[in-house]
Amino acid sequence: MDIADVKNISIIGAGNMGHQLTLVCALNGFDTVCTDVNGDILKKAEDFADTYLKERVKKGKLSEDDAKDVRSRITFISGLRDAVDKADYVIEAAVENLELKRKLFADMDRFAPAHAILATNSSRIVSSRIADATGRPGKVCNLHFFNPALVMKLVEVVKAPHCDRETVDVSFKLCEKMGKIPVLLNYEIDGFILNRVLGALAKEALWLYEKGIASFEDIDKACLYGAGHPMGPFRLMDLTGIDLEYYIKNEAFRNSGDRADLPSPGVVERFIKGDYGEKTGRGWYDYSENAK
Ligand code: CAA
Repeated sequence: MDIADVKNISIIGAGNMGHQLTLVCALNGFDTVCTDVNGDILKKAEDFADTYLKERVKKGKLSEDDAKDVRSRITFISGLRDAVDKADYVIEAAVENLELKRKLFADMDRFAPAHAILATNSSRIVSSRIADATGRPGKVCNLHFFNPALVMKLVEVVKAPHCDRETVDVSFKLCEKMGKIPVLLNYEIDGFILNRVLGALAKEALWLYEKGIASFEDIDKACLYGAGHPMGPFRLMDLTGIDLEYYIKNEAFRNSGDRADLPSPGVVERFIKGDYGEKTGRGWYDYSENAK
């Protein structure tokens, strides 16, 4: 398959990443189908798409006709079979659960056309742990976008041992067609490139906070005003989700058995309260109307 053959893209999972990936694809000319097992999440993604496109028109970033074209390229649909049966390229952006992803990939393999590439947007689960659930391991890879996907340019493309060269080449070119900047990992590694780097920063920031050396606000300020980061590690955790940080750290502990990998107390405390960050209105910071 060549990049010119990729016309239909399916996004599996309409949550944190999927709702924005859907728009990224449609804005760049692809016919895009988005699905989710949860009807409320799918509806929220549809509402987001409508609001986002209206806002882009209001901001003068899109003409009304272009916004209509983009919207006409998106179908929100329930049911995996209907969501992937015309796909040339599938991007799975479901929750970070290995068993669930293996089941999804087995189903995607059954329902998607034989030529389709099946990529996972997982930030942690390497495609080697999923590819053998399908009959097309050469067409399975990691394609890792960053939050917010509509804005962040980086995409990590991971060449696993089972990946065909064509899968990597098409994935790389697809990112470029989406206006993104792909980087290639020649080998699989936990956390890929950027999450390893950001993880090291967050670990140190959490240590400074837990030891009472500085407030989390001041640690964020240090990163903003001393290193020119667009947001500090605590504010970023609120954006990506404290629940995600909690799950990732517990998974790291399960793999390593090293207690240093466990989520830090400040993360556990917020996780237990359901304060996951922006999406719940409170995390490290308060996003409620009052606070605004
Ligand atoms: N969704 C969609 N678009 C958004 C957005 C969001 N959540 N937040 C901001 N934007 C858009 C705005 O609409 C605006 O677009 P235009 O300029 O085209 O009008 C543009 O981004 C700039 O917005 P703002 O001026 O309001 O805000 P900002 O300049 O402070 O930028 C930010 C916001 C882009 C989020 C910036 O703070 C940033 O880059 N933060 C760091 C994000 C980051 O590190 N992401 C990686 C996370 S790690 C990850 O994702 C890995 C993983 O596996 C979970």
